[in-house]
Amino acid sequence: SHPLRLGIAGLGTVGVGVIKIVMQHGDMLRARSGRDITISAVSARSKSKDRGVDLSNFDWEDDPVALATRDDVDVYVELMGGEDGPALASVKAALNAGKHVVTANKAMLAIHGQELAELAEFKGVNLRFEAAVAGGIPIIKSLTESLAGNKITRVMGVMNGTCNYILTRMETAGLPYDEVFEEANQLGYLEADPNLDVGGIDAAHKLVLLSSIAYGTQVDFASAQLQGIQRISIVDIKHAAEMGYRIKLLGVSQMTDAGLIQTMRPCLVPALSPLGLLEGGTNMVIVEGDSVGQIVLRGAGAGEGPTASAVFGDVMDIARGINIPVFGIPAAQLTKSTPADSSGE
Ligand code: NDP
Ligand code: HSE
Repeated sequence: SHPLRLGIAGLGTVGVGVIKIVMQHGDMLRARSGRDITISAVSARSKSKDRGVDLSNFDWEDDPVALATRDDVDVYVELMGGEDGPALASVKAALNAGKHVVTANKAMLAIHGQELAELAEFKGVNLRFEAAVAGGIPIIKSLTESLAGNKITRVMGVMNGTCNYILTRMETAGLPYDEVFEEANQLGYLEADPNLDVGGIDAAHKLVLLSSIAYGTQVDFASAQLQGIQRISIVDIKHAAEMGYRIKLLGVSQMTDAGLIQTMRPCLVPALSPLGLLEGGTNMVIVEGDSVGQIVLRGAGAGEGPTASAVFGDVMDIARGINIPVFGIPAAQLTKSTPADSSGE
């Protein structure tokens, strides 16, 4: 059968990881999907930057929109990031041109997810975003597919590797915030705007995407209650430890009789609980469903390999001809949620 041809916009941490998977695992990918997976063209800001991978076999496009709409692109892989700007413009262009889209861009989806899902489904193409939530952890596929027989009652967890890294390193190494922040940067965890990380915004973007799938509601970032880790000091961390607790940036999404609760804020968790034992850039997502009970997914929430792994899971589904609604049920059937007042919770 025909090869599946990718166009990749964004050649940073994640984009380079995706290119490496194509280069290193061609035979395996063909065996698993039944077709060759190739890269037609790529795009980034700088054409001359050395990215540690050979790009000479791929066409170059300066403009992501031109890349997204090329005749020789079947799947547009958006790995630039940004809520609006070229990411949104190119994803819309790709969907309008009938291309499948795979993206890791939670900021864009948390704000524009409903509109993009409607467009993708109208056009009959995939819009996939496994990499956008908790990096390498297959939480989107778990909710939309493996747990589809459950009424989901709660989704919670640690979904920002940078914050977890900073908090655990401050505690275990006794290092100041600034030094640990720089380490997280070196590891490729940080968003282009690090305030998205330490302000809890990035983690809240992820949480609201999970809420949408869990409860069949439209993505609602505006009603999420969030607080970052900027004001957590080493003294806070020490006091918590003395009482047998650790401080985690914890997200909770829960459907209650009073409405939807979505909170992302620093919480005390017992040091010896699964959440308390979570170290470094690791993420953990806990799902509760009426049939399955509680399940815990743990793994790398960021970085080149884990995030590219998630991107590729989506690419493989498309190569195999799988097409499911973006948020698990058709976008037109997603209801508007009623936010619960969780201020006193
Ligand atoms: P990087 O900052 O490492 O890379 C971004 C890439 O996009 C760069 O190659 C940059 O070009 C390119 N780019 C930025 N703006 C433009 C533009 N206007 N036109 C063309 N190219 C542009 O980001 P990451 O790889 O870390 O992240 C990519 C996406 O994946 C983001 O949405 C992020 O939130 C998400 N994500 C990242 C994770 C991670 O661990 N890093 C984990 C999960 C999701 P140039 O290199 O020339 O500057
Ligand atoms: N900046 C994000 C984090 C990247 O630290 O978790 C993964 O989404």
